[in-house]
Amino acid sequence: MNTKQTLLMQELFKQAEPYLKMRNDFIHTRVAHDFALMLLEKEGGKRNIVEPAIILHDVGWSALKPEDIAQAYGLKATGAKARQLNRVHEVQGAIIAQEILSKQGYDKATIHQIVQIIKRHDSGKNPDTTEEKLVKDADKLWRFSKTGYHYEMQRQATTHAERCAFLSKKINSWFFTQIAKAMAENELQARDKESDDGFL
Ligand SMILES: [Fe+2]
Ligand SMILES: [Fe+2]
Repeated sequence: MNTKQTLLMQELFKQAEPYLKMRNDFIHTRVAHDFALMLLEKEGGKRNIVEPAIILHDVGWSALKPEDIAQAYGLKATGAKARQLNRVHEVQGAIIAQEILSKQGYDKATIHQIVQIIKRHDSGKNPDTTEEKLVKDADKLWRFSKTGYHYEMQRQATTHAERCAFLSKKINSWFFTQIAKAMAENELQARDKESDDGFL
């Protein structure tokens, strides 16, 4: 493990934290970052792009009001208004990330690559680099993790059956790497098992 990179990522988490408070996204970001590290190990890709992009990808929610966030995110958020509000968090997130990364001394070309990923982490349908694929996959994997599954069930006021049906329907279309898809399938099986065992 590269200590310099690890220390820099700790600093980025610190910088991101105030912006992640709006939607209570710090734990989401931590879990997604852990998934990103696992994916980097299996798939390759540039750590100096993937790690900052996943740490900063949701800072833009800080630019929206709570009532707008409720409209923009979740199972029940559909339609043009939801898309437009979701887009705000991508665009504002890119602006905030650019400021944070500049202050940390990142060069322009690296900032550009990171910010491009943040700018379309939800709306982009055709990621053209390994780094973008890994960020998108790590972001989605959160929903399958034990923490994320429970958290989203509460946040979105859904039942286990609704949550499970939604995620299993999405598994084929959401992921860009086979390894992320396999990880999601394993996680979902574990959530199902926990439900059968009465933990959910
Ligand atoms: Fe997001
Ligand atoms: Fe996210």
